[in-house]
Amino acid sequence: MKKVGIIGVGEYLPKHVLTNADLEKLVETSDEWIKTRTGISQRRLADKAEATSDLAVNAAREALADAKIKPEDLELIIVATITPDMPFPSVATIVQNTLGAKKAAAFDISAACAGFVYAISIARQFIVAGAYKNALVIGAETLSRVTDWQDRGTCVLFGDGAGAAVLTEVSRGGIMSTYLGCDGTHMGLLNLPGGGSRNPTTHQTVDNKMHFIKMQGNELFKIAVRRMAEAAEIVLRQANVELSDVKLIIPHQANTRIIMAVAKKIGLTEDRIYMNIAKYGNMSSASTAVAMVEAVKEGKVEKGDIILLDAFGAGLVWGACLIEWSK
Ligand code: ACO
Repeated sequence: MKKVGIIGVGEYLPKHVLTNADLEKLVETSDEWIKTRTGISQRRLADKAEATSDLAVNAAREALADAKIKPEDLELIIVATITPDMPFPSVATIVQNTLGAKKAAAFDISAACAGFVYAISIARQFIVAGAYKNALVIGAETLSRVTDWQDRGTCVLFGDGAGAAVLTEVSRGGIMSTYLGCDGTHMGLLNLPGGGSRNPTTHQTVDNKMHFIKMQGNELFKIAVRRMAEAAEIVLRQANVELSDVKLIIPHQANTRIIMAVAKKIGLTEDRIYMNIAKYGNMSSASTAVAMVEAVKEGKVEKGDIILLDAFGAGLVWGACLIEWSK
């Protein structure tokens, strides 16, 4: 089988920082509650003029420069997002046009917080099959646009951002195994009920705040721990790799307590877990992407290191990806 690796990474975080102290002025909460229950200190919010595709393009440009690939040589663009600029066309088509990636096929996928792991897995299949030589995978979100800023149960959690990776065939290392899971029976635990074909936008859906994220956090918490641990164990088993061989686990950044519980379940020490949740909160599909990019930029991942991406989100969906870094 062809080896497919990541040869360039990029990220974009909007400039505006919203701190826990700022949130104390909006809802009945405290910096102490948010930090101890979630691990989050601040998050970034997109500027009024910025849409998801703008964040995605900025991350993409950095990743393409890092990979030394020109937009016109790109063959595939996949954007993982649950906050597209508009229902259609896809964010990926807007990115394709803005980058000038004239040759590239482009589409979005919706897999919530597991979106980046799902998209990496899909891109890899296209390259392995010989359909495309390279692919740009982006996780990009503007969750601030679908957050109810009066709901303290959700507004303290989310942020905006984008992370990107360029994939191509490599001679050594690359993606060792991937695993994707889904259990649609729990779709009611986390969703955005308004604005789609089930509940098209009306004055009533807006009055009922159906255009905002609805979440039953504590139910999700337990399932997230179980499924993320399971996904990590499956990709390791599939690739015949021991946990002790993994340099760094880069999990979805939803909650420090979820991450620590997963680590405990699989027997991992804190020094091998990458976390940047304190700075950015939960950016859904962008979280795992940005965490991977920052781990690389900080020199925590080098050529030959094995890393494990592990994510969980609305659907419910989850997935993991084991990679031997090849750049
Ligand atoms: N400030 C102060 N108090 C709060 C806040 C807040 N911001 N939010 C909730 N509380 C209160 C609740 O009202 C409740 O009070 P009560 O006991 O008087 O009723 C108490 O704190 C405990 O609330 P819980 O919801 O049980 O708190 P929990 O410890 O479960 O933490 C959290 C909530 C942080 C949301 C956690 O459940 C979580 O992280 N869940 C998982 C989220 C997740 O993984 N989502 C999937 C990915 S996201 C995606 O796909 C887009």
